[in-house]
Amino acid sequence: MKKTIILAIESSCDETSASVIINGKIKSNIVATQEVHHKYGGVVPELASRAHQKNIVPVVDQALKEAEVQKSELSAIAFTKGPGLLGALLVGASFAKSMAAALNIPLIGVNHMQAHILAHFIDEPQPQFPFLCLTVSGGHTQLVMVRSHLDMEVIGETQDDAVGEAFDKTAKILGLPYPGGPLIDKYAQKGNPLAFEFPMVSTEGLSFSFSGIKTSFLYFFRKKVQENQNFVDENIEDICASVQHTLIKILMNKLRKAAAKHKVKNIGIAGGVSANSGLRKAVKEEGEKKGWDVFIPEFEYCTDNAAMIAITAHYKYLAGEFESLNVSPNPRMKF
Ligand code: KG4
Ligand code: ZN
Repeated sequence: MKKTIILAIESSCDETSASVIINGKIKSNIVATQEVHHKYGGVVPELASRAHQKNIVPVVDQALKEAEVQKSELSAIAFTKGPGLLGALLVGASFAKSMAAALNIPLIGVNHMQAHILAHFIDEPQPQFPFLCLTVSGGHTQLVMVRSHLDMEVIGETQDDAVGEAFDKTAKILGLPYPGGPLIDKYAQKGNPLAFEFPMVSTEGLSFSFSGIKTSFLYFFRKKVQENQNFVDENIEDICASVQHTLIKILMNKLRKAAAKHKVKNIGIAGGVSANSGLRKAVKEEGEKKGWDVFIPEFEYCTDNAAMIAITAHYKYLAGEFESLNVSPNPRMKF
């Protein structure tokens, strides 16, 4: 039987990535992280596009080489269609379109948030449908009911900032470089999560809000620094542990509520913030208490990567969901 070989490209934000999948099995996953943004304290869209332009050819070559695949063997090319930064998406989309046209093979457009969720299907164990997924990244915070590989519904999301943004912006206030989420996680592991308490903002139903809590962190640190100039340096571990504990508490409250409301016991987490050690632990512990089957992706597949685009493309290929060559990316793409 002829093999199905798909090359997938991810370029929605600050990671240029390419992956090859053969008959549903990932054969390579190359990720080039753009260091250029670190000194600006956040992703600079124009610089991201330029770095994608520079990285995309070597990253794709490396992905094909590791998978031992020739371009002429490809069955389809997949790319991230959205959501993301328009200029960044355009680099991946244009590259994929050109390659699909040159090789005369189908083109597959993938939703980045759907792909974060389908990262659960790269390795075993895989969740049974339906399952509830808490998708937490730098741009999104969503509770998603996943009915099949390609049938998903957002049942709750943030009204303002994403939780990853709350991690990164709080880290910036503390003088930590971008992206601050992993650094908060690192310091938090040595700190006391109950050292400082912050006022929580309640939100309706399954909606989240993170802009209020971010402001309350800011006012709290400002006041403390006025009292003691060295407050942050002297307490960085306890501060990070308390900030992380507060953000996880907000996520867990809504996850618990959604699971009870929709009577689901298959629970997953996905997206960059699902790499957070505190969140991984909290979901596992809650799962043990509530009898949930908990699914947590490998670290490699939590933050942005093209393997998740490739696995989504695999299911879209099987369903015959292809794009025309005049497709354009959609920075605000929904499911
Ligand atoms: O999914 P992702 O790589 O990119 C987007 O689609 O946005 O998520 C990036 C986000 C950033 O906000 C980053 O700080 C956060 O994930 N992140 C973490 C950790 N690792 C990545 N946040 C907390 N703890 C971590 N260990
Ligand atoms: Zn992402």
